[in-house]
Amino acid sequence: MKTTHISSICIALLFISSSLPLSSATCTASDKQSLLDIKTSLGNPKSLSSWTPATDCCDWYGVDCGFNNTKPVIGLTISGDPTITGPIPRSVTGLKTLTSLTITNTGISGPIPAFITSMQALEALYLYSNNLSGPIPASLGNAPSLNLLYLDHNRLTGPIPSSLGNLKPPTYIKLNDNMLSGPIPSSLGALPMLSDMDLSRNRLVGDASFLFGASKILASLLLAENSLEFDLSGLEFPENLDKIDISSNHIYGTIPGQLNKVKNLENFNASYNRLHGVIPPHVTKLKFLLTFDVSHNSLTGSIPANITNLRFLQAFNVSYNGLCGQIPQGGQIQSLSPDEFSHNKCLCGAPLEPCK
Ligand SMILES: *[C@@H]1O[C@H](CO)[C@@H](O)[C@H](O)[C@H]1NC(C)=O
Ligand SMILES: *[C@@H]1O[C@H](CO)[C@@H](O)[C@H](O)[C@H]1NC(C)=O
Ligand SMILES: *[C@@H]1O[C@H](CO)[C@@H](O)[C@H](O)[C@H]1NC(C)=O
Ligand SMILES: *[C@@H]1O[C@H](CO)[C@@H](O)[C@H](O)[C@H]1NC(C)=O
Ligand SMILES: *[C@@H]1O[C@H](CO)[C@@H](O)[C@H](O)[C@H]1NC(C)=O
Repeated sequence: MKTTHISSICIALLFISSSLPLSSATCTASDKQSLLDIKTSLGNPKSLSSWTPATDCCDWYGVDCGFNNTKPVIGLTISGDPTITGPIPRSVTGLKTLTSLTITNTGISGPIPAFITSMQALEALYLYSNNLSGPIPASLGNAPSLNLLYLDHNRLTGPIPSSLGNLKPPTYIKLNDNMLSGPIPSSLGALPMLSDMDLSRNRLVGDASFLFGASKILASLLLAENSLEFDLSGLEFPENLDKIDISSNHIYGTIPGQLNKVKNLENFNASYNRLHGVIPPHVTKLKFLLTFDVSHNSLTGSIPANITNLRFLQAFNVSYNGLCGQIPQGGQIQSLSPDEFSHNKCLCGAPLEPCK
């Protein structure tokens, strides 16, 4: 009897919620038509089979509507369907209230169309892991509301347009795993609220020192596997950083001692560069450090003694440098692999051979 009672309450609640005026509104005719046009342009893929004219488009798979009495379409997600090919359909511009457009893990190809710039409400553009090619249109940086641009894992070529320095705050940029070339535009260093940026695995060259600065709000700066070439000595790391990867570039100079002020730093990777000088002794103040990789450089001196205080350390890779002296004993250090200390001038002690 008890279960019957509970389920009748549930049925009553369902009845009440479905009779609220809010959910009696449906999507607008114009949004519905634009979505049906998108479906046709994409060749009526199976993943969009719920998109049928007889139903409220706010109930369609991947369609997200706002809550006011007109139920505007504000989000569209088309993802995980490799049978979707061809270019990005122009009909997306018919969705006048769209704030977030996601087309990811599909076979969509062709260029990133400049018509996206005309989407007045668009704040977030996720076009990662497709087969997009050609250059990033310069106009994109001037899209009126855009602050998040994820174009990673495509086949984009050409330079990063300097207009991306006009993206709105707070700014999130991921262009990694493409074939972008040329220098990083200095306008990106002037973005007042650049929060996260990943430009890894492209063909970028030249200076990136303008992305540094203690007062920048960057939390994640990832520049790995390019051909960037600049002097790291004396630069200041953004003090909010929790993750920085500048590995596999042609960066030279020394590791700035200011690193110890980056209180929340978790991951530091500067491996495969041309750094010399010492490991800053005060990195031991970075209480939350998880991984520290400076392997494959020309560092000298010894390993800072208090490294044993770092409680969360999972990797401390100093291999392939010119370090010398006893490896500090205690903390996490002896649980690390000897490979992380190998190929130095004269490091000794566990996990390597005892000092003579
Ligand atoms: C409903 O939302 C749309 C798009 O977000 C907006 O343009 C419109 O002003 C809103 N209407 C009301 C009554 O809030
Ligand atoms: C990507 O697009 C090119 C044509 O631009 C095509 O030849 C290739 O097969 C596509 N690759 C995938 C994985 O869809
Ligand atoms: C640092 O970057 C290199 C490649 O640039 C990568 O192979 C290595 O795994 C990274 N180190 C850590 C600790 O993630
Ligand atoms: C190492 O840490 C201890 C406290 O844990 C402190 O007293 C000492 O001054 C530190 N030494 C260096 C060289 O930072
Ligand atoms: C350094 O060692 C760590 C931990 O073993 C590993 O994850 C990382 O990939 C190594 N770095 C390089 C450049 O091989």
